[in-house]
Amino acid sequence: MEKVSEVNRSREWFDTPELYGWMRRAAFKAEGFSEESYEGKPIIGICNTWSELTHCNSHLRDLAEAVKRGVWQMGGFPMEFPVMSLGEVNMKPTTMLYRNLLSMDVEESITANPLDAVVLLGGCDKTTPGLLMGAASANIPTILVTGGPQLKGNWKGEELGSCTDCRRYEIELRAGNITEDDWAELQSCIVRSNGHCMTMGTASTMATIGEALGLALPGNAAIPAVDSRRKQLAEEAGRQAVRIVGTDLIPSKLINQQSIENAIRCIHAIGGSTNSIIHLIAIAGRVGIKLPLQLFDDLAKTTPFILNLKPSGKYLMEDFYYAGGVPAMMQRISHLLHLDAETITGKSLGDNIIGGFVHNDDIIRSVDNALDPEGGLAVLKGNLAPTGAIIKPTAASSELMVHKGKAVVFEDHDDLAARIDDPDLDVSPEDVLVMKNSGPVGAPGIPEWGFLPIPKKILATGIRDMVRLSDARMSGTAFGTVVVHVTPESANGGPLSAVRNGDMIEIDVPNRKLNLLISEDEMNSRVSEKIYEGPQFKRGFKWLHARHILQADQGCDFDFLLHENLQ
Ligand code: FES
Repeated sequence: MEKVSEVNRSREWFDTPELYGWMRRAAFKAEGFSEESYEGKPIIGICNTWSELTHCNSHLRDLAEAVKRGVWQMGGFPMEFPVMSLGEVNMKPTTMLYRNLLSMDVEESITANPLDAVVLLGGCDKTTPGLLMGAASANIPTILVTGGPQLKGNWKGEELGSCTDCRRYEIELRAGNITEDDWAELQSCIVRSNGHCMTMGTASTMATIGEALGLALPGNAAIPAVDSRRKQLAEEAGRQAVRIVGTDLIPSKLINQQSIENAIRCIHAIGGSTNSIIHLIAIAGRVGIKLPLQLFDDLAKTTPFILNLKPSGKYLMEDFYYAGGVPAMMQRISHLLHLDAETITGKSLGDNIIGGFVHNDDIIRSVDNALDPEGGLAVLKGNLAPTGAIIKPTAASSELMVHKGKAVVFEDHDDLAARIDDPDLDVSPEDVLVMKNSGPVGAPGIPEWGFLPIPKKILATGIRDMVRLSDARMSGTAFGTVVVHVTPESANGGPLSAVRNGDMIEIDVPNRKLNLLISEDEMNSRVSEKIYEGPQFKRGFKWLHARHILQADQGCDFDFLLHENLQ
């Protein structure tokens, strides 16, 4: 790492001869800090998404104290500040509606304040990408510390993952295979500690991406939230944040083509969340890198899927940590990584993972014994998704990877909720369930509605999976043959808007195809007829969102937040 400035950025706030310099010192005194606390020291911001409304992040005040210890130890001055928190479970209609708002909060809070480096504290699904996007735009030295995964759930001796197994048992409840009492008991058994969902959902995937991009300390992603080693790592992050003040280890340098390709390789190797594609495109866009969906697909073909975690596999994040965590996983695919990529430690990625060692070959498989020779996500294209759609083959049914079926169409999420369990619904297991108007504009906010429920009458036959298709997203913890992120979205006049009940749909994952089997003329005439009367907003943030949100293949960022090179 190279020192590029001997003068701390924060000095500009205090060394000004104007009254404001004096007032800022007075303001610190008002908090009980004498000048000895901060004089001549770098100020390290601790950007915290703590909230009691975000259960996954509700322990982050505690983690901030560990970061502060590290900052003090290295002669820095820590200042913790709050930013918007996005609690996946509580926020309606979806946290994704607010990810960009969090990123704006982060960017402006960092740039407007006297900070020389920043430690980001996140965890729940959208908090980590929102933090990384904002910090990438603010572009001062930054370290990501995530809150860590929850301990494993356990019910009647069975290990459970949040919320893969919530979804699995909800299906069994609807099918009548467990009782309401079972369901109530299970509620107390699945989330046993602080931390984020402990399957390889979006939170775990984004934490892994943090390490792959070189923005988090090695090993950060998998340490359980309540393991004392997480606080030790947070303390070291505080120390490292002081060391990197004034250096060139800034997000725009660390997030580059090499580190992004490393992140994509890791997403495929771990069977990562479909959502991570959207988030990584958005993060890249903040440093001026246009990330095409095709790159994800190209790298999938040469990256083995090796991590045996739910929802695609068997184990949970706690097991992953004991098996060696992200450094050990990266060792297994090191021949595919850019090992000379720089990281926040001041060392290369290759140096960071030297100590990575696999302690359980069933959890972190070898390349020769991979769960699948190809990566966890695939990009489909065709007349139904000209600019792309995503499927997670590792969590889908192999027998449905090449399939033709009759469309059963729901106009939107309300229509789905009203009719999916109607005994008169004309549906059979070979059909394709289609939901429209659930994208970034149509929903709005591209909610995680893409895991369409299987109709009760189909569940009753013992069937647990069907092909499902929408312009929504699905939770990273979900599973099944679910095609999501269809672009352009139906509310914007995308071809999905043209699908009618009874049309034949073709999905061919090996050949990456997704087609509506009607003529081009018929498609064009249907698309031109469609006018969706979706949600209309006359004011406020949702008004702004509707006007500036980009499509899923472009990362769902706001157009005005992209790096100026991409404007
Ligand atoms: Fe926060 Fe799953 S609800 S990560």
